[in-house]
Amino acid sequence: MTETGGRVARNRRIWSGSPPRLLGTMLLALAATALLLHAGDTAGDHVPSYVEWTPDTIANASSGDEFRGLLLSRHCAHCHGEEGFSAKGDTPNLAGMARLAIWKQLLDFRAGKRISFPMNPIAQSLSNKDVADLVAYYSKLPVFYDPDDKRAFPQPAPDPVQKGMAWRLINFGDGERGIPPCQACHGPLAFRPGAPALLTQNGPYLLQQLEDFATGKRANDINEPMRTIAQLLTDAERRALADYYGAGLGLNPGTGPEPRQ
Ligand code: HEC
Ligand code: HEC
Repeated sequence: MTETGGRVARNRRIWSGSPPRLLGTMLLALAATALLLHAGDTAGDHVPSYVEWTPDTIANASSGDEFRGLLLSRHCAHCHGEEGFSAKGDTPNLAGMARLAIWKQLLDFRAGKRISFPMNPIAQSLSNKDVADLVAYYSKLPVFYDPDDKRAFPQPAPDPVQKGMAWRLINFGDGERGIPPCQACHGPLAFRPGAPALLTQNGPYLLQQLEDFATGKRANDINEPMRTIAQLLTDAERRALADYYGAGLGLNPGTGPEPRQ
């Protein structure tokens, strides 16, 4: 059983019945239990995440104490930055990240649904309350540019061809290949629950995530939108998108380059 904060996932069933009297019945019971546990394990592997967007989950993810979150964030600042902006491009920025997105990723790391060498043990050491408090803290950190803080964001802007490629995909997608516009879920105008804004995220981190979704190494997206989309993108497109967001160009959606035909 895995705690999801709001709910307990029921993907492992436990065999139950009247107490067996004969050895044969006991053996049968053992075999049945093994089968059911095995079936449960297999089902668990196919569940991308134990987090579900129920009113309970949303309430839990919104119940944190910001100040306690600040104290706990000392354990995170070494990698994610004092102000939630990392000094290394391959470590994600957490400042201003949507509440539900941080909540879900920490629970997925904790349950082993998303694999990361540093994050799995760190998330396992956090209680539900710790997670909620960290969510309250990081989601409220400002995303303004601070020249005194050592941070990797924003990186230099990509060339105009890359810019145009990314801008088209973010705003229009590609109907022929069935790629929806990124902004339909990642904002800034519309957000899907659990979809983080990519607008102030580091480019190298974004590229790694797109590659991991494409190969299935990262497989914790509910209903697989990202595994599907990342696979449909070419290498050049994944890089253009990561570099575009990583340079902070997504922050001003109205000022993107005109699409080139
Ligand atoms: C040793 C460095 C390190 C420490 C300490 C650390 N993290 Fe991380 N964190 C990472 C790395 C690296 C990733 C990216 C993992 C990947 O590549 O999938 C990450 C990913 C995350 C993500 C996912 C972000 C996203 O955009 O999906 C969250 C949320 C997060 N960390 C929160 C925390 C919190 C909260 C703490 C402190 C309790 C913490 N981290 C401590 C290195 C660290
Ligand atoms: C149908 C909705 C939808 C669309 C369209 C979409 N995404 Fe996502 N994306 C999501 C969701 C939901 C997540 C969070 C997955 C999870 O729960 O782990 C996500 C996660 C991501 C991440 C990981 C971010 C992080 O902080 O770890 C990247 C990178 C990403 N998307 C890039 C894109 C790009 C680029 C596009 C456009 C080509 C796009 N997405 C289109 C829903 C979408």
